[in-house]
Amino acid sequence: MKENWRFSDRIMQIQKSAIHEMTRLSRKMEDVAFLSWARPTSDTPEHIKDAAVKAIKKGLVGGYSESAGLPELRTEIVKKLHRDNNIDATNDQVLVTVGAIEGLAAAVMAIIDPGDEVILPTPTYSTHIRQVLIASGKPVLVPLIEEENFALNINGLKNAITPKTKAIMYCSPNNPTGTVFKEEELRQLAQISLKNNLVIITDEAYEYFVYGNNKHFSIASIPEIQKNVISSYTFTKTYAMTGWRVGYLYADEKLIPQITKAHIPFAICAPVVSQYAALAALKGPQDCVREFKDHYLSARNLMCERLDNLDSIFQYVKPGGSYLMFPKILVKEGQNSTAFCKNILKEAKVSTTPGIAFGPTGEGHLRVSFCVPEAQINKAFDRLESYFK
Ligand SMILES: Cc1ncc(COP(=O)(O)O)c(C=O)c1O
Repeated sequence: MKENWRFSDRIMQIQKSAIHEMTRLSRKMEDVAFLSWARPTSDTPEHIKDAAVKAIKKGLVGGYSESAGLPELRTEIVKKLHRDNNIDATNDQVLVTVGAIEGLAAAVMAIIDPGDEVILPTPTYSTHIRQVLIASGKPVLVPLIEEENFALNINGLKNAITPKTKAIMYCSPNNPTGTVFKEEELRQLAQISLKNNLVIITDEAYEYFVYGNNKHFSIASIPEIQKNVISSYTFTKTYAMTGWRVGYLYADEKLIPQITKAHIPFAICAPVVSQYAALAALKGPQDCVREFKDHYLSARNLMCERLDNLDSIFQYVKPGGSYLMFPKILVKEGQNSTAFCKNILKEAKVSTTPGIAFGPTGEGHLRVSFCVPEAQINKAFDRLESYFK
């Protein structure tokens, strides 16, 4: 049969994900030391799983919930926003979503018209760039300042604003660099957005994983800017709930109904069983979050020590948050990060993610994740040391 249709332009402009490509290649091999996924390898804590089972047994999860999410879950989220993010919200300012990702996609759909520009400090989580593209928006990438520990380039951001700029979208702690943007930088960003009437879209997936003197700051806690901010949060990282697909957005009560118009055709509502699990996560003991954080901190330190032994190959900025880091590749072969990562996968059986996946300024780098058991980090670096000897 003759094909007389073609895929949409919005889809054809999206390139294959480098992370999935590395996963595909790794699966073809045995005994790979995996540092390429940004997902917790720990299992979801028992009390959260038990609550989900209880909800199933009670017959609570077979139907849809309200599109905005279970009211009792939103009530707990409001308490959490107040306690941990310094944001005073009401239930009407919360939308429970299918992970942070669906919330962000719905937010971008609600804000961006074709041709609108969205400024993204890069390197950044590549899904954000794709979300803008799928909405037929134009991503405008402004490099972070690597020499200053990947700080936000405030002047660069100001200079990137044009009459078509609609929004600024960032994640902090940042994937892939692990940078925690400073409160003073974010306050400057808030002023810029107010002056230029821009929406700020934040991804705070790693909010609880910040180390040393770094502090996570939610820009939505600045009262003047609340009407211009959409912030996303997730249970994925905090409670090792990747597969449950539950997160939420905070935004002004005028914005939430508009974003919900995009949320419904994508999702109707977040999985109800997962919403009960999320409720248990918020109401239950928080020791698991501290334990994950302690593990990531010690895994980060181990990874930094192991990278120090390879200082003629990699140069890194110690990440202040997340469980990711983004070393620069010093050897010539690293100029093509995709070829470099494929090569170390093939020759040393270590899976990493090429930096180019996170925007053009990521080229010449690779992303490695420390959300894995320490034995995995040692295995990977033992292999890299032998390979580069
Ligand atoms: C910055 C960032 N945001 C969001 C996500 C995905 O979040 P969720 O599982 O809640 O959709 C990831 C996953 O790697 C991430 O790194």
